[in-house]
Parts: sequence; structure tokens; C-alpha cells
Amino acid sequence: MLKLWILTTLLLSSCLSVFVVKAAPVDHHSFANIAEVYTNKLSLDLTVDFEQQQLHGFAEHTLTRKDPKSNQLILDSRALVIEKVLQADDQGAWRTAAFKLGAVDAIKGQPLTIQLTPTSTKVRVYYRTTAESSGLQWLNAAQTSEKQQPFLFSQSQAIHARSWIPLQDTPALRVSYQARIRTPKQLMAVMSADNSKNTERDGDYQFVMPQPIPAYLIAIAVGDLHFQPMSDQTGIYAEKTWLAKAAAEFSDTQKMMDVASKLYGEYPWGRYDLLILPASFPFGGMENPRLSFITPTVITGDKSLVSLIAHELAHSWSGNLVTNSNWNDLWLNEGFTNFFENRLMAEVYGPARAAMEYSLSVKDLQRDIAELEPADTALQLQLTGRDPDDAFSQVAYVKGQLLLQLLENKFGREKFDAFISAYFKKFAFQSMDTQTFLQFLQQQLLDKYPGVVSKTEVEQWVFGAGLPAGFPMQHSDAFALVSKQLQAWLQQDITLSALPTKTWTVHEWLHFINQLPRDLAPAKLAELDAAFALSQSSNAEIFVAWSRLTIPLNYLPVMPQVQQFLLNVGRTKFVVPLYRLLLENPAQQGFAKEIYQQAKPGYHPLTQAQIDKAFAG
Ligand code: BES
Ligand code: ZN
Repeated sequence: MLKLWILTTLLLSSCLSVFVVKAAPVDHHSFANIAEVYTNKLSLDLTVDFEQQQLHGFAEHTLTRKDPKSNQLILDSRALVIEKVLQADDQGAWRTAAFKLGAVDAIKGQPLTIQLTPTSTKVRVYYRTTAESSGLQWLNAAQTSEKQQPFLFSQSQAIHARSWIPLQDTPALRVSYQARIRTPKQLMAVMSADNSKNTERDGDYQFVMPQPIPAYLIAIAVGDLHFQPMSDQTGIYAEKTWLAKAAAEFSDTQKMMDVASKLYGEYPWGRYDLLILPASFPFGGMENPRLSFITPTVITGDKSLVSLIAHELAHSWSGNLVTNSNWNDLWLNEGFTNFFENRLMAEVYGPARAAMEYSLSVKDLQRDIAELEPADTALQLQLTGRDPDDAFSQVAYVKGQLLLQLLENKFGREKFDAFISAYFKKFAFQSMDTQTFLQFLQQQLLDKYPGVVSKTEVEQWVFGAGLPAGFPMQHSDAFALVSKQLQAWLQQDITLSALPTKTWTVHEWLHFINQLPRDLAPAKLAELDAAFALSQSSNAEIFVAWSRLTIPLNYLPVMPQVQQFLLNVGRTKFVVPLYRLLLENPAQQGFAKEIYQQAKPGYHPLTQAQIDKAFAG
């Protein structure tokens, strides 16, 4: 009897150590009281006013009470003017509700606290956005590609949805939404939703997103947009200039979707369209569901940068279906997505290309790790009291990817594919945190196939600083050859004309430039430029890699091109390092200031904030 009792206890406790479900971590970047009352349905009715550069209208939330005694709803807001709040009781009668905007927190914004009656089931907030609404960029006609009509777009991730919609802005919560958007008649509105109802350009647009999504995936864009289909399921929204070019560049999107669906389960969102933004878009891409937002800087004419599409598409599973529950756990979105992206690239474009991209990513990670505080190089971040935008680095992306690659290498592709598929299936439309993931990993892989990878090893990756020794590398024959040829040139065994650059892909060029010594003599820089016109490269990745080498060496011929680039492009990943390097070069500080003065009005508020920080030192 005693034996049985001991056995049961042992069994139970060993199960418990695996299955114990810890309380979901608190989201330190939201005021929302989701443990008491949460909103799971949102209805927007907004007018887009380009003259005032503001959205105005209402956001209506349907309430679910977890705590029946709760008598207030707390929403997140930032830089919004709240005009009035109504609430509806269970009979559907609307009356005013008392509300209060709390003190401004520099990072989180302001809590909007609404007094509820015991029977209220809905809340309707009438509001306007302001010039400080950080999630919106308003462009005048001159700042667009066609230069005829103004443009508006949102970027809600990480915590900017609250600056254009008063809502519970935490990825721990999901809402379905519908929207009615009124715009000037000649413009077209699109959202991260079903866009198919809007066949007529009439200034009145309707959207439905039936599947529940986190607030950071709510997105809107308004401009002189046109649509071109690429396949049954995919198409391009863009200004005219980009439409055909983008459709050609991204014509493999359907293939990527088919491969992805085969790997990890059917694509869960219906259509997958791409929206090409103006060049001030602060990111490469943003995985807004059904409609990824894409920078035009990846439209190069040779499909060399389409891994960005693989990345945003992969988020349809990692991120949009299974979502990090708070911003410390961003690696669950981005690390999985980078892993998935590289897998897609290997399947669609072959392992040689995927290996080159992998190798370039690892270099980027190592550069970031060298510059970051050690605490910011753990996969799980500690962002309490900090702005999530400030801790953004390659760690969540590439270190996360490498951990998953390590697991795949150790357990074998078959088992690891099955594990990932099971993960997406089990946690579909749910939020995920690091602890829950680690439990699932232990249960589904570590314990199931003991002796392959230890829990301690995984924890070292997740909670420890830096890049663990023995991280998985992918060998690239092509890169090895480029490195060898580069050495031969440096040792003056061969001339530049002997390099087989005619057959180099953009990736080989990037490897070549990244491998060049950082103290190359001016004559060598000039020799390279004369041979390959690197200062004139129209490929943004090549141009920025070349600038990163040459700005610190005060190579003057590149400077006019740097100026042009900074005036035309607002992608943070490119422009912030360029400004930093200019500022670190005493001879170019004045130049940097002059350019910024001119370029600043064209940059997105998020980009401006990052550059301001670089200028502040
Ligand atoms: N979701 C991210 C962009 C993001 C992350 C915005 C965190 C705000 C906070 C998007 O999927 C992304 O990762 N974009 C990358 C592209 C890429 C291929 C790694 C970018 O913009 O460079
Ligand atoms: Zn991403």
C-alpha cells in the first residue's frame, strides 16, 4: 500500500513538474485589466481626414467579464483625444459612461478607465488621433511614389495600436474585428482583414477579420492603391509604379504558401496579399494577417531579397496563429519565423541559397551581440520599464533560429517537423510564453527521446547571455570560395578582374563586402568602386553593407549616395546604422545633421525616435 502511494506520488510529481501550468506572465507594457474584463470583438467606424491628418470616429468593444464584480474596463491609449464613451446594457440601450484618462507613462501611454454598470455588455469610445499618434504615418503626395495623392499607413507592433485605437493592447488577448472606413473618394483603404468586399473605389470601405488576432496585428493603409493578382490566393496592392514590378518580384509567393502548408499545416487565413508601402515604411516587412506590409527596398528585379516574403508569410503560423503573450517572449515569434523562413527558402530556392542567407544572418547576430549589453542577448528579454522598440536586435531572430536549428539537427528533421506541426496545431489562436513553450518542448521532445538534448542546455540558450559555443552553422561552398578569392586579391595574387563576379549573387556580394578588412586603404576602396560601382548599387543591402565599410574610413565618393539614400529610404534597419556611423566619424557629424534636418519630416515617427536617440549619443 505504502509502495503504491509512493509510486503514485512520484508519478504525479514528475508529471506535475512537466504539466504544472504557471499563471500567464504579466504584460508590463499594458494597462488593460484583462483578468477582470476583456474585449474579444472590436468594431471600428473611422473617417480618414488627410487635411487634419487624423482618424476620428469610434471603437466599439464587446465585453466578457471574468470577474462578475468588476465595474471598470481599462483600455490602453496613447496620444488620443477621447470625446465621449457610451455603454450598452444587455437590452441594447446606449447611455453615457464615465471615463478617465490616467497620467501619461512615457512608454505605455495612458490608461483609459471606463466605469461599467453591472449589466453593460458593450462600450463605444468616440475619439480622434493626434500628431503624436506613433502608430500612424501620414505622407503628403510628394512623399509617395506617384506623387499625386497622400498616403496613410499604420504600424502597430509592438505597442502602437493604442495610439490609433483605444483598446486592450496586449498580445495575451485576441479580438476579431470589423471596420467601416471612410476616405476621400479617389483613395482606397485596405486592412489586415478580408478586403474582398471593396470592389468599388467610392470612399466607403468595409472589412471583416473573423479570426481572433492580437491588437498589434490590426492594420490599415489608405492611398492611391491598385490591385494585381499573382495567383488564386495571392496578389499585390501598391501604387501604380510598383504594381507590375512587385508582382514579378514576388511571383513565387503561392509556391512558398504551398510549401509552408505542406510543412506545418494548412494556411489558416484564406488569402495572402502583399501591400507595397512607400519607402519610409520603417520595417522590411510586417506580418499583418492576410495582408503583409512590405518595404519597396526589396523590389530589386532579381528576387534576391524575397526571403523577406518567406519571413512574413511564415508569421502566418509563428506569430499570428501562435502568438508571443508578451514582448519579453518576442523570440517565440521571430526566432520560429526565421527558422521557418530559412526552411522555406531551402525548399523553394535550394539549399545553397538558404545556407548563404543563414550564414549572413549569423554574422548579423554576432555583430549585434558584440554591441549589446549581455542581459539583452538572452532569448527571453527583460523589458519591464523599457520600451520594447529599444531592445530590438537580431537576438530574438537569429539566436532563436539557431536554437531551433540545433534541436532539428539533434532530433532529426522528421521528429522536429512533427514537433513544430504539433505545436502550431495545439496552440493555434492562442498566446504562448517561454515557460509554456519549454514545458511543451520537454514533454514532446526532450523527455520523449531522452539523452539527446538536456533541459539545462536549452535553458542556457533561453536564459543565458551570448551565443553558446557549438551553435549550428551551415556551410556554404559558395561563400568559402568567395573568401578564398578575396584573400587572393588582398595578397595581390590576383587582380579584381580575375574575380568571377559575373556569376555572383547578391548574397555572394554581401559576403564579399562583409569580409573585407575594416581598415582597407583608400586606394583599395577606390579600386573596388571603379571595378564594381558599389557606391552606385541599387540593391539596398549591398549599398548599406558597402557604406558600413566605407563611412568609418571617410571614403568621400560614397557620401553623396549616402545622402540620397537617407533622403529616399526610411527603413530603420538601414538608416539608423548609417546615421550612427556618420556621427562616429568626426569629419561627417555636420553632414549627418544636415541630412537629418532635411530627411526627418519624411521619416516614420518610430524611425525618428531611433535616430534622435543616435544623435543624443
Ligand atoms: N514583426 C516584424 C517587425 C517588428 C518586430 C515590428 C518587432 C515591431 C516590433 C517583422 O516580421 C520583421 O521581422 N521584419 C524584418 C524582416 C526580416 C526578414 C527579418 C524587418 O523589418 O527587417
Ligand atoms: Zn518577423
